[in-house]
Amino acid sequence: MYQTFYGFTMMPFSVTPDTRFFFPSARHSEALASLIYAVTERKGFALLTGEIGSGKTTVARALLSHLDPDTRVAMVLNTHLTSKQLLEVICGEFELPIRNRDRIELHAQINDYLVQQLAGDRNVVLLIDEAQNLAPRTLEEIRMISNLETETEKLVQILLIGQPELRQKIDSPELRQLRQRINIRFHLSGLTREEMVQYVMHRLRVAGNETGPRFSRGAWRVVGRASRGIPRLINIVCDNALLIGYVRQTKRITEEIVREVAADLALDGVTAADVPGPVRGVTGAASPAPPRRPRGRLARARRLAREMLWRPFHRSAGA
Ligand SMILES: Nc1ncnc2c1ncn2[C@@H]1O[C@H](COP(=O)(O)OP(=O)(O)OP(=O)(O)O)[C@@H](O)[C@H]1O
Ligand SMILES: [Mg+2]
Repeated sequence: MYQTFYGFTMMPFSVTPDTRFFFPSARHSEALASLIYAVTERKGFALLTGEIGSGKTTVARALLSHLDPDTRVAMVLNTHLTSKQLLEVICGEFELPIRNRDRIELHAQINDYLVQQLAGDRNVVLLIDEAQNLAPRTLEEIRMISNLETETEKLVQILLIGQPELRQKIDSPELRQLRQRINIRFHLSGLTREEMVQYVMHRLRVAGNETGPRFSRGAWRVVGRASRGIPRLINIVCDNALLIGYVRQTKRITEEIVREVAADLALDGVTAADVPGPVRGVTGAASPAPPRRPRGRLARARRLAREMLWRPFHRSAGA
């Protein structure tokens, strides 16, 4: 919508995990390095957890471009699955037949496949995103897949990726066998204030115009407070702020614009009452009238952004 106005060649704040925009912050780089290490050193199990929207799926996608082209990868993105369905999805990813196969046969097929890959000296990765949704029984099923190993290395590298509940789940007593096999753990948190600014500037640069919109010092402060450094929230706040700038035909993104966005999105730390009168009246009879602007389109865009904030990423959205 505002792409031409700011001189971008593509939209800078899309909420899909697009690796063209990958920003190697210290935490994201460490997370990526630990996944690369887990795979290339054949460590068996690795766990990547992180706050909602912190960039776990983005890191997982970045990993794919760092793997040896011979590596076989199965990606499981939908985790509302029974154990059998999970095995079917894994077989499907490895292009193995699934029709009329029971659980034991599916397991046997996966084992045969792993042995064949070992014979061809090919590494195998099973990447399970949104793993916090898996039932303990299904997580146990995954552990069974990892049982196959030689004396020196694991035949399959299993990367479990998920929101903080995954850590709690794995630390529960019923999953202690699985927990003992996890050799690498990494938790992704939000960006620091400085990294947040670099992150936004990086996205603007990749989108084609670093100096298109100009954020004031106060604007940066409110973006930081509203987003807590979480990349998805930074994207949503900045996208909406640029939209308001466009509607007002200004490239200067002020503190007041960002406050309005944060209040509209009901982000912690900024409330409607923080927004000064002429832009958004604090409720009450004496509130000044808002300025005229195309409310319909803007309201719709904001509603969409709000929905996106809570919508988990699914394969269809980003693949
Ligand atoms: N290092 C990064 N570089 C560029 N963009 C990033 C980075 N980290 C996150 N993002 C952006 O933030 C948004 C959320 O990222 P992502 O979907 O990877 O988060 P997530 O942790 O997997 O979220 P969820 O908990 O919902 O699964 C995406 O738009 C993504 O492009
Ligand atoms: Mg994700």
